[in-house]
Amino acid sequence: MGEKMGFQNQGFMRLSGLLFLSILVLCRADVQYYDFFLQESQFTKLCSTKNVLTVNGSFPGPEIRVQRGDTVFVNVHNQGNSAVSIKWEGVENSTAGSNDLIQPGRNFTYEIELNDEIGTLWWHATSAWASATVHGAFIVLPAANEDYPFPAPDHDQTIIIGEWFRQELTEANQTIAPGQADAYTINGHPGETTGCSNDTTFEYQVDYQGLYLVRVINAVNETMVFGIASHSLTIVGQRGAYSRRSFTNSLTLAPYQVIDVLFCANQNLGHYYITARPSSSTTRSTTGILRYTTTST
Ligand SMILES: *[C@@H]1O[C@H](CO)[C@@H](O)[C@H](O)[C@H]1NC(C)=O
Ligand SMILES: *[C@@H]1O[C@H](CO)[C@@H](O)[C@H](O)[C@H]1NC(C)=O
Ligand SMILES: *[C@@H]1O[C@H](CO)[C@@H](O)[C@H](O)[C@H]1NC(C)=O
Ligand SMILES: *[C@@H]1O[C@H](CO)[C@@H](O)[C@H](O)[C@H]1NC(C)=O
Ligand SMILES: *[C@@H]1O[C@H](CO)[C@@H](O)[C@H](O)[C@H]1NC(C)=O
Ligand SMILES: *[C@@H]1O[C@H](CO)[C@@H](O)[C@H](O)[C@H]1NC(C)=O
Repeated sequence: MGEKMGFQNQGFMRLSGLLFLSILVLCRADVQYYDFFLQESQFTKLCSTKNVLTVNGSFPGPEIRVQRGDTVFVNVHNQGNSAVSIKWEGVENSTAGSNDLIQPGRNFTYEIELNDEIGTLWWHATSAWASATVHGAFIVLPAANEDYPFPAPDHDQTIIIGEWFRQELTEANQTIAPGQADAYTINGHPGETTGCSNDTTFEYQVDYQGLYLVRVINAVNETMVFGIASHSLTIVGQRGAYSRRSFTNSLTLAPYQVIDVLFCANQNLGHYYITARPSSSTTRSTTGILRYTTTST
């Protein structure tokens, strides 16, 4: 009898401990505020200059970085020439009415309530023509009292695979068929193979033996293949959730897919190509560079 009571008591204590913990977790969830300014910005790429719609003048746009369970308010001020709305990919619960277009000169505040989402999500304009330049990462880190379910990385890096068109994209471009881009980009850089002296190359500096978490976002309406020469990748997350670990030399990302990988900088000091290409072509790739820092003594 007494033993049974003890058992029940223990169970009760464990249960109330759990309740207490989850109340703590709830209390720690924060409210975060972001401001996005949609504006026309001038860029020179592929030897030509044009105006495109951006958030805060940057391509890709600014990164949102919050913790699991946070509530995020994003006030989008439309200072551009076209009506736009933003889609929060992978977020289960964001404000109703979020499909309404924000007219030029107006603003709208999205409320994004995070629940279990963890890892990498992203945001982009709903229309295809605007989405080509209006997009960015939405990163959900573990809550303050949580760890990653894998060895903690020394650093994390977002890589957004994008595309660039020489021609203007307008509201006439409600869809963009695969294979229409003039070049692919890594974090906005077309790389060194375009033959234009003004084009820049994405560089990622790493330390020997460091462990890196790379968040790869495919912002292109094509299946893309991504890899880092001589480095194997461990998949740890997909679609705003942790995933079973699996090892690979290259990632195949469906249109608009996101994959989180870990890699160890365990090769000879030097530099290695980072490549992204459509799965349909081996010649239309864009490259970046992974560079090992050389410690100067
Ligand atoms: C966008 O720019 C505005 C004005 O410069 C700034 O206040 C805001 O913090 C920026 N937003 C982000 C997400 O960087
Ligand atoms: C979404 O948020 C609203 C407003 O806070 C809430 O009433 C609703 O239950 C939430 N839905 C889900 C699926 O979490
Ligand atoms: C527009 O922005 C102003 C100033 O930042 C803010 O007070 C207001 O609530 C915003 N309106 C909407 C609909 O988000
Ligand atoms: C955008 O629309 C214009 C007009 O319909 C068309 O000529 C052009 O090919 C489209 N661009 C892309 C990338 O689909
Ligand atoms: C993506 O490509 C498919 C064809 O593969 C097309 O039907 C669809 O409309 C495109 N989506 C966008 C947003 O352009
Ligand atoms: C392109 O680069 C050249 C040489 O660095 C420079 O003189 C020129 O102004 C640049 N053009 C543009 C449009 O930025």
